Amino acid sequence: MARVFNFSAGPSMLPEPVLKKAAEEMLDWNGSGQSVMEMSHRSKQYESIIKKTEDLTREILGVSDDYHVLFLQGGGSLQFHMIPLNFMTKNKKADFVQTGAWTLKAVEEAAKLGKINIVGSSKDKKWSYLPPIVGSDPEADYFYICYNNTIEGTQYHTLPDVKVPLVADISSGILSEPLDINKFALVFAGAQKNLGPAGVNLTIVRKDFMDRIPAGLPAMLDFKVHADSGSLFNTPPCYSIYIVGLVLEWIKENGGTKALFARNAEKAKLLYDYLDQSKFFYSPVEKKDRSLMNVPFLTRVTEAEAAEAMNKKFVKEAEAVGLVNLAGHRSVGGMRASIYNAMPVEGVKKLVDFLKAFEKNNA
Ligand SMILES: Cc1ncc(COP(=O)(O)O)c(C=O)c1O
Repeated sequence: MARVFNFSAGPSMLPEPVLKKAAEEMLDWNGSGQSVMEMSHRSKQYESIIKKTEDLTREILGVSDDYHVLFLQGGGSLQFHMIPLNFMTKNKKADFVQTGAWTLKAVEEAAKLGKINIVGSSKDKKWSYLPPIVGSDPEADYFYICYNNTIEGTQYHTLPDVKVPLVADISSGILSEPLDINKFALVFAGAQKNLGPAGVNLTIVRKDFMDRIPAGLPAMLDFKVHADSGSLFNTPPCYSIYIVGLVLEWIKENGGTKALFARNAEKAKLLYDYLDQSKFFYSPVEKKDRSLMNVPFLTRVTEAEAAEAMNKKFVKEAEAVGLVNLAGHRSVGGMRASIYNAMPVEGVKKLVDFLKAFEKNNA
């Protein structure tokens, strides 16, 4: 069966060589006579898998020994609560930039534990840009951003200059371009976009930031417990971590984040260039803040019902030619193409050709 080009925001496409390798190793990992799915997480074999995955994470993202690399469960969403629970503990307040759905959720969770200071919001223009920072608090326990806004399609290409520890949700932007981890006290990413399958979340946290973790937290919510046990406090999502390792190997073999960035920039340019000259489609996002990974777009049909019908027609016809999951997020409508690392240039070219033909037939 022919594989489709999958533009889903997550879980999303994985590199084909990774899937093939996983298939080859499905029944017998490295002569062990077992699948990784069946392996004890306390075995020597599995220890080598999780260690390799951590080592590759450090190598590819340039993570020094000053940081812990943790593989956790509960997705990005649990991090929304775990981070304030562990780190919003000195002055019980933090600065947040509001840039869309995922920061709204992060604020909602953090607000249960302390005082949230909103230092910028792009709500006034439907989250279509990254707002300037106003009124940051020098006594905030940390400053929180969402580095790439999966739903709204904005991405920080320059990080805000802040005086307090910087914390970022890098779920949908991780490995899309080189990123200096040393600028952050903590970053986290659900794996199901650029890293691997759902089920594991990567958190990278500076060791000195861990000093402020209060005693007596529930073990599973305590970063120190996970750091002290090398992400093996309880049974981890073993198979997902193994696939993350294969994805990282693929990234290394393909030139690391610099090479990925060049390819991602090429893919994004193809799509944005087309949208910017189209008389039928457009990107609602300010040029300077556009995401390399998630590209929302709309038609210029203005009447609400007709616009909705046109979006549905687009998604259906695209699916028929093997371009799938192009519907926009249910909260914003329109369309969205997620073009993560595993999406080949060929997939974006095919999408642009389809957009051109659709415009010709429907404008
Ligand atoms: C930027 C961002 N943060 C957090 C999440 C939530 O992640 P999870 O579904 O793993 O809880 C998502 C999910 O798509 C996301 O895109």
